Amino acid sequence: MAKKLFIPGPVEVHKDILAAMSVPMIGHRSSDYAALHKRVTEKLKRLLYTKGRVFLSTSSAFGVMEGAVKNLVQKRCANFCNGAFSAKWHDVAQRCGLEADAYKAEWGNPITPEMVDDALKTGKYDAITLVHNETSTGTMSPLEEIAEVMLKYPDVSFIVDTVSSMSGVKVEVDALRLDVCVASVQKAFGLPPGLAVFTVSDRALEKAKSTPNRGYYFDFLEFAANDEKHNTPSTPCISLIHALDVQLDRIFKEGAEARFARHARMAEKTRKWILSHGFELFAKEGYRSQTLTSGSNNKNSDLEGLKKKLAERGFAFDNGYGKVKNKTFRIAHMADIMPEDLDELFQTIEDIWAGK
Ligand SMILES: Cc1ncc(COP(=O)(O)O)c(C=O)c1O
Repeated sequence: MAKKLFIPGPVEVHKDILAAMSVPMIGHRSSDYAALHKRVTEKLKRLLYTKGRVFLSTSSAFGVMEGAVKNLVQKRCANFCNGAFSAKWHDVAQRCGLEADAYKAEWGNPITPEMVDDALKTGKYDAITLVHNETSTGTMSPLEEIAEVMLKYPDVSFIVDTVSSMSGVKVEVDALRLDVCVASVQKAFGLPPGLAVFTVSDRALEKAKSTPNRGYYFDFLEFAANDEKHNTPSTPCISLIHALDVQLDRIFKEGAEARFARHARMAEKTRKWILSHGFELFAKEGYRSQTLTSGSNNKNSDLEGLKKKLAERGFAFDNGYGKVKNKTFRIAHMADIMPEDLDELFQTIEDIWAGK
């Protein structure tokens, strides 16, 4: 049975988006595709507050995350880790044969500007990776404050995963001087999976030219060369790009700022609901995500059982990720989820708890 998704990705996809994918296929070297590509990347530039390049990658985010370290780490990389995805990025850097160190914060805590400063002061690094919104814990690190620190280290590449925040939270790529900012579309964009979008700064592209072993599929210089023709190095997922075209129109129709505000309101509502039922919030106060909320299972509630009963009633619920599975639960409130959808979920959970 199809379930309404409240898991933090893939998320529920609006019917207009599903319909947008069902248009006739076009050749990716055609002028029709170039027009689509140009339209989509221009809208993304507007959404991301950048005048720089935005690329479309037919992969999930991890492809580009791997590509980013392969293109931009020449000396040594500092990976800031405060959850499963940021820790995985460190593993990825090492698997690529790169020199890398992990700087760890407890799960539920943010990466702080002080941590970044302390690491970069050593002079050992030419790149850092940061996960803005740790989806495994519902923790959002202070990107603006970290970007301030990065101003002291202009030669260090600033590589940021905004996988579960992009389009749900304001991220001003140029003002923050991000070298790479990446997201996959199955999160706050509300699309089916299979496409990643990312920005690459001029500084980063210039640096990539002298990085050996960039590979092919995620070589940023290949993306840049094809971008000149509003195209991609290899065959893109054209149906998803059509869907993104329509979704970006829907985003601007709602208003980007209004959309960010809706996500913030839904986060507030979810936190209140969790607290009102005697659970605690997992992420540290002041650093709680706006696109998903993680509750602590301090009451030792049967989350597996709840997940099963919710599934029978047509809802997909997440009972924690990785080492905090069943010790936490996560409720996603991103993309096209509305406050009324949360009311419906909350009422259903209350009914289950009441034995109804
Ligand atoms: C913060 C974060 N980074 C990276 C990823 C990996 O993204 P993908 O599955 O699109 O490769 C995820 C997936 O949930 C994520 O939440």
